[in-house]
Amino acid sequence: MNAVAIRAEGLRKRYGDHEVLQGVTLDVQAGEVVGLVGENGAGKSTLLELLAGVARPDEGRIVVRGAPVRWRRPRDAADAGIGFMPQEPSMVPGITVAENILLGREGAGMRFGLVRWRAMNRLADEALREIDPTIAPGAQTQSLSFQQRRRVAFARALAAGTRTPEAPVLLLDEPTSALDPDGVEALLRGIERLRARASIVFVSHRLEDVLRVCDRIVVMADGRCVAERAAAATTAQELQHLMAGRTLAVEMAYGRDRSHAPGRTCLELKQLTRIPGYADVDLAVRSGEVMGLTGATASGCHELGRTLSGIDAPQRGRMSIDGRIVVLRDPAHAVAHGIAYVPADRASEGVVGALSVAENLALADRTGWRIDRRRERAVAARWIERLRIATPSASTRVSELSGGNQQKVALAKWLAGPRPRVLVLDDPLRALDVRARRDVVDAIRAAALNGSAVLVIADALEELAAICDRVAVMRDGRIREDRSTSAATRALRVPVERAA
Ligand SMILES: Nc1ncnc2c1ncn2[C@@H]1O[C@H](COP(=O)(O)OP(=O)(O)OP(=O)(O)O)[C@@H](O)[C@H]1O
Ligand SMILES: [Mg+2]
Repeated sequence: MNAVAIRAEGLRKRYGDHEVLQGVTLDVQAGEVVGLVGENGAGKSTLLELLAGVARPDEGRIVVRGAPVRWRRPRDAADAGIGFMPQEPSMVPGITVAENILLGREGAGMRFGLVRWRAMNRLADEALREIDPTIAPGAQTQSLSFQQRRRVAFARALAAGTRTPEAPVLLLDEPTSALDPDGVEALLRGIERLRARASIVFVSHRLEDVLRVCDRIVVMADGRCVAERAAAATTAQELQHLMAGRTLAVEMAYGRDRSHAPGRTCLELKQLTRIPGYADVDLAVRSGEVMGLTGATASGCHELGRTLSGIDAPQRGRMSIDGRIVVLRDPAHAVAHGIAYVPADRASEGVVGALSVAENLALADRTGWRIDRRRERAVAARWIERLRIATPSASTRVSELSGGNQQKVALAKWLAGPRPRVLVLDDPLRALDVRARRDVVDAIRAAALNGSAVLVIADALEELAAICDRVAVMRDGRIREDRSTSAATRALRVPVERAA
């Protein structure tokens, strides 16, 4: 079995005067899993969008199973058995999870008979059940958390990818981000199982995952494929070098400043409860301290983050800042109390896509009503450099940036303004490349050194260990452990190692 399932041939794509893809050629064989890696802004998502019919190439062509194709819309690609999981989940509101998964499939599916349709249905169902059994196929998509919507998007790609009698092609853009370790494991196992029946392009910044499930890895930089390696013949270190054009330590060793002592309790929660979500949460974060909050699916940490940001009010319990009880009416009220929140779902809540990078960075700066363009530009220049935000200019609209670079803007927005008393970050390292992760961790630590009380929510403990002074673990909406990072890492590593 050595046929080419899908081929990108000399693809070029330009946005304005920025040539985002500069002649990309890539073959994916039948039954092959190809990893696509590259720093934020390298062009990975753009390449997948062209292959999936979401955007059209300016030059070059796409060949599917030997025949050149020209997609007019995403549906054309889906009808040809190409399943696409975009980096940011987009769900059609007002319909159920099952309908979202099967969207637009009826006609095409029926052509191949009821049996096939049932098989597809089963596949989508299975995918969903395995990845997250808590998602009911009959649930309305609006009621889902961001993490759940990502999982539905994966199931949807699987379903679309099985529309034809031919083996499907699955284009997965960071499918493992926003999943907890169990979810990641289920997804990776799913890919391993699918490899016999499908061709897969797997985009991820988690190089260990890429090395594990891919046969071959293609490295992109500045809109080109710059290198290619058999997964068995390379390492994370080498891939990192190829991506960045230099060698960096891949391990997250950030040299935390141990001599730094946190100050007085800033954020305090007492018996805070919102059901469903979390219950009886007691938590204290001191100023200057970085506290981590983690837990598996349905742990309640993301819900707690939303309450702290003023989005969802608690049912009982209380919250105080610097010793004073606060009752948050809405997100604006939280901001007025000095609480900065960076949501996991940055595309819909974290940044304003229609505004420029500079305008977004000025949003949290509440020093006055008058807009000082010069100051705005200076602040933007500083943060673009500090976090290496890849953007043509400070006046570029945020919606035009790559996913990882939007993530950086969402964070920089708060760091650029007056020091927040409390900084709540939901999954801040998601979608970032290795270099950017380091930049962002440095910025988070700097915010703490500056006196903010920082709460970082993440699904993977390993990430928190590198950033936090202390980690609390939540399960079923309750805090189960609260200890120093090193003790928590030791305690939690044990069962993981045993399972391996
Ligand atoms: N609609 C658009 N308009 C203008 N520029 C765009 C658009 N989409 C992408 N770009 C630009 O194309 C470049 C590549 O973006 P792309 O999203 O493909 O990167 P990526 O490799 O997926 O990065 P990340 O790892 O951050 O997701 C970026 O510099 C981005 O600003
Ligand atoms: Mg991308």
